[in-house]
Amino acid sequence: MNFSLTHCSAIITGASSGLGAEFARQLAPTAKSLLLVARREEALNQVKAELLSKHADLQVHLCVADVATDEGRARIVESIDHLDHKPNLLINNAGIGDYGSFASADPAKLRGQIDLNVTALVLLTHAVLARLVAPAGILNVSSLAGNVPMPDLAVYGASKAFVTSFSEALRVELLDKNIVVTALCPGPTPTNFSKNAKRADGADTNRSGQGLLRIAPGVVVRAGLDALVNDCACVFPGTGVSIAAPVFRIMPRSLMRWALKRRYHKDHQAES
Ligand SMILES: NC(=O)c1ccc[n+]([C@@H]2O[C@H](COP(=O)([O-])OP(=O)(O)OC[C@H]3O[C@@H](n4cnc5c(N)ncnc54)[C@H](OP(=O)(O)O)[C@@H]3O)[C@@H](O)[C@H]2O)c1
Repeated sequence: MNFSLTHCSAIITGASSGLGAEFARQLAPTAKSLLLVARREEALNQVKAELLSKHADLQVHLCVADVATDEGRARIVESIDHLDHKPNLLINNAGIGDYGSFASADPAKLRGQIDLNVTALVLLTHAVLARLVAPAGILNVSSLAGNVPMPDLAVYGASKAFVTSFSEALRVELLDKNIVVTALCPGPTPTNFSKNAKRADGADTNRSGQGLLRIAPGVVVRAGLDALVNDCACVFPGTGVSIAAPVFRIMPRSLMRWALKRRYHKDHQAES
């Protein structure tokens, strides 16, 4: 693989805040052009202004679109087809969670997670693949939650298990096409994610033990970009997460279920 970020032309979904905006910041010094995608136009404009204030030569294009819809993805593809520089990097970053029990979840939020975290990622990748100019990269933002069943984030965790599995399979299919695929699997990271995953009852995603795993968005993004350039299949940024991930993978499922049950009851007793 000889994929490089130098002079890259990248598409970043969920670029209006959090990790997506940070991807844009870290790519900006060497990229040729960035296509930033999200629903909030004002927030996208703020990111664009920040980037151009430091990198006047960078081409920054915005696409205001809901990636979770067919119309939104069609708009992204149309924007790509109008770019001066054909893309060689797709960062599937947009994603949402929903914190709380499955039984009490709003069905619209359950569907929303699958539509965005799973369907949108697959169908956008499929549409963009034909437009990527090799050597190219696809960076899928998954989660440590993909390695472990997550009571109170059950659908989210399952959606990220899908992202990691899909990424590893696609990586093998695209090896010969000179397209590297990497799954970035962060642990808890301070962005707007938790705020957006909270329900009206105020339940938080700040469960016990998470403080040990938390690292800054800048570190997560750096690890993801380095992994892509170094042709790594999966990266778990931060010491705590990089230790937890293989432990979760090799742990017998019966032991895993026992530990999850214990933690679940402890956390819920503490609340009542
Ligand atoms: N933060 C964490 O603890 C953590 C841990 C592991 C993995 N992750 C993953 O990291 C990724 C980025 O999340 P984040 O932490 O940066 O959260 P964030 O700050 O809430 O950012 C989410 C981004 O996704 C965009 N987005 C949401 N729904 C969208 C839609 N339907 N169409 C287009 N854009 C949409 C949002 O922009 P608009 O609202 O403007 O559309 C925003 O730019 C997600 O895939 C998340 O699952 C996060």
